Amino acid sequence: MPTQPTQTLTASSADLARAADLLAQGDSVAFPTETVYGLGGDARSGPAVARVYEAKGRPAFNPLIAHVPDIETAQRLVMWSHMADRLAMAFWPGPLTLVLPLREGHGIAPLVTAGLDTLAVRVPAHPTARALLRAFGGPLAAPSANPSGRISPTTAAHVLAGLGGRIAAVIDDGACDVGLESTIVGLADDTPRLLRPGGLPAEPIEAALGQELVRHHVSDALNAPGQLLSHYAPKATLRLNAEVARTDEVLLAFGGVSGDLNLSRNGDLTEAAANLFGHLHELDLTGRPIAVAPIPDHGLGAAINDRLRRAAAPRDS
Ligand code: TXA
Ligand code: MG
Repeated sequence: MPTQPTQTLTASSADLARAADLLAQGDSVAFPTETVYGLGGDARSGPAVARVYEAKGRPAFNPLIAHVPDIETAQRLVMWSHMADRLAMAFWPGPLTLVLPLREGHGIAPLVTAGLDTLAVRVPAHPTARALLRAFGGPLAAPSANPSGRISPTTAAHVLAGLGGRIAAVIDDGACDVGLESTIVGLADDTPRLLRPGGLPAEPIEAALGQELVRHHVSDALNAPGQLLSHYAPKATLRLNAEVARTDEVLLAFGGVSGDLNLSRNGDLTEAAANLFGHLHELDLTGRPIAVAPIPDHGLGAAINDRLRRAAAPRDS
């Protein structure tokens, strides 16, 4: 694709107005959310969404999340339900995405859903994401702002390293707090499903619903089409549950284990989630294989391990 200079914008209202103009023109703009940086495009415009896929080099069957400013806007796009209401009231704005049947007259470009009859929607909590949605005045389709198959960006520098020259602008507003993509819950039928573990642990979601989420393992049929096994991959190979590094490896440690970088010396899973992608990016720059210490599998640890398993999975080159 042709290269273009990528502008770096701030979160000032003048710059957000500039970003909204670029989006209205059909350009792609990367912006911070509380989870990771997203690459936004006008969700009502096929060409704008195509540009997002193109910049990422993303397989066209992998649908995108529509970001909206509030519950009312979401309700205009999808068929709302009692369960959707419970989860939205409890966790929006925040790191939770709901998949619901599209509603008649939704106006969403088919490329956003990759032809599915359901739509993933989310109300982000980050003040800059919210201000941008208000300035733009429409839904933004926004996958994570990384080249397809690479790890998600948690800073504007990560975005520029992966997509500089391929997108119109990035809004630089510091590092993302959560550091993991949103949790995706499927509510397309009567059975609530955990389609992707993420920044909101499953336990509080189940408590709010008063029932368990049906979990899908990566080996199941691709119910979230993005669940390609190798999806969040650094360039280096990854070896999981490593207590010590082999001679040529760098070690990503956790808790008391000592290594080249530590996700959280105190064994705090929230801190580890926020550090995960940044540390992987940094270790990837060494060009050496990465060994990763064991991470407990509860709470946010489940999402961290999910990302690590995908990053470690054999990939087609
Ligand atoms: O935190 C996040 O969710 C970030 C920020 C930018 O909001 N976005 C993000 O988007 O992670 P992306 O495109 O990297 O991941 C979207 C996931 C994919 O796994 C995709 O397959 C799934 O959502 N998805 C989208 N629409 C779906 C649908 N209708 N049914 C099932 N899964 C869907
Ligand atoms: Mg992604």
